[in-house]
Amino acid sequence: MPATCVIGLQWGDEAKGKIVDLLTAQFDVVVRYQGGANAGHTVVVGDQTYKLHHVPSGILNPGVMNVVGPGVVVNPATLLKEIQTLLDRQIPIGSNMLLSDRAHVVFPWHIVEDQALNESTADGENIGTTLRGIGPCYRDKVGRSHAFRLGDLYRADFREKVARVVDAKKTLLSGWKNARVESLDAAAIHAEYHGYAERLRPFVGDSTAYLLDAVEAGKRVLFEGAQGSLLDVDHGTYPFVTGSNSSGVGVSAGSGVPGRWIQKVIGVAKAYTTRVGGGPFPTELHDETGMRIRELGREYGTTTGRPRRCGWFDAVAVRYTARLSGIDVISLMMMDVLSHLPEIKVCVAYDLDGQRIHHFPSHVDDLRRVVPIYETIPGWCQDVTGAKTAADLPAGARAYLARIAELVGRPVAIASVGPGRAQTIMME
Ligand code: GDP
Ligand code: IMO
Ligand code: MG
Repeated sequence: MPATCVIGLQWGDEAKGKIVDLLTAQFDVVVRYQGGANAGHTVVVGDQTYKLHHVPSGILNPGVMNVVGPGVVVNPATLLKEIQTLLDRQIPIGSNMLLSDRAHVVFPWHIVEDQALNESTADGENIGTTLRGIGPCYRDKVGRSHAFRLGDLYRADFREKVARVVDAKKTLLSGWKNARVESLDAAAIHAEYHGYAERLRPFVGDSTAYLLDAVEAGKRVLFEGAQGSLLDVDHGTYPFVTGSNSSGVGVSAGSGVPGRWIQKVIGVAKAYTTRVGGGPFPTELHDETGMRIRELGREYGTTTGRPRRCGWFDAVAVRYTARLSGIDVISLMMMDVLSHLPEIKVCVAYDLDGQRIHHFPSHVDDLRRVVPIYETIPGWCQDVTGAKTAADLPAGARAYLARIAELVGRPVAIASVGPGRAQTIMME
């Protein structure tokens, strides 16, 4: 049973990219299976920083196959730019990357829709999407009649289908406020996407067949989640979520690899919490400490540059997502950031309308009303960025890791003390 998954346990940006890069040496294949250019995964290798959006974080390790599965929504323009940037930096990309011909394609009308929707609100609050056309593309995938998969770009009827869909989109969107449909020109879009399709041709194939052969042959496969479990379209803080199943439950659907092959799930969480965009965030800090965490952790979006909202670790939320995503162990990140705080809080329960609850509410209205109940933990106020083993960590930091493990109900197997590869402590 060769597969391992790396899944975010919060609202994204937990540093999944760092963990995937680090583990890749032990694997033959790395797979992205959901999300798209909304993801921004940072990998730091020596003095080089790479920001990956579509391309799996395994790409920096030579000899590893990188697969973009059917559940991903691909923006060919962004992907080609990303490939070129990596090639320019001497990262080889060729036969080491396979894009599923079943993956859906993001078109300009999806971006137009995303922008128009984002200027209106969901549930009285702006979702604050990444404006990458993600939700509209997934909606068209489910709607079927206006959707294109990568494989469709090579079919004889591609030009005619673009014309038909542009017509339909113009009619549909003309009634929408702020939908800039005038920019949609079928001939120009076809020509542009035909060009992209030709450039991507060497990479496109049947990734499902490839992955099934790989697992059956005993190859070691690493699944790289994008976003985080709380942004899962079914199980997250709906409607303030992304368009895909970004918790552990999405791995099989998005890749075509059944759950029987999954041996291990690593849940990645920050030692505190961040969120970009709208939606409830019970432990959010609107004070000086929140601002400090943002500056210390450089909490600005990898994809959009937006400042991330910051707050304390929420053990109610992470206990929920650890169970939902079926994790075996936790990788707790950004321990170095907390080193600067004299006192640290962890949310251990919620108060909902005067009642103490330990579960994560399913409705966003309830989540908006919860008041976090905190436990205060003394800070360790010592630099940990050079720590190599658990024994190098101050007792206070070790106690914090132990308390998180206890509250979440899973062991902390990895603790991260900085962005670099070497700044990672294997606790087991
Ligand atoms: P991802 O989307 O889950 O891959 O995470 P992002 O790349 O969007 O954000 C994580 C950020 O934290 C990146 O800038 C990483 O380089 C950085 N990072 C990762 N681990 C650590 C850590 O332990 N400490 C600090 N200070 N930064 C870290
Ligand atoms: P990685 O993979 C953090 C958030 C957006 C918005 C919501 C919906 O880097 O962890 P979308 O564009 O997906 O329709 O936006 O989800 N979001 C992320 N937040 N990290 C991400 O990816 C995210 N991808 C989407 O900010 O609130
Ligand atoms: Mg990110």
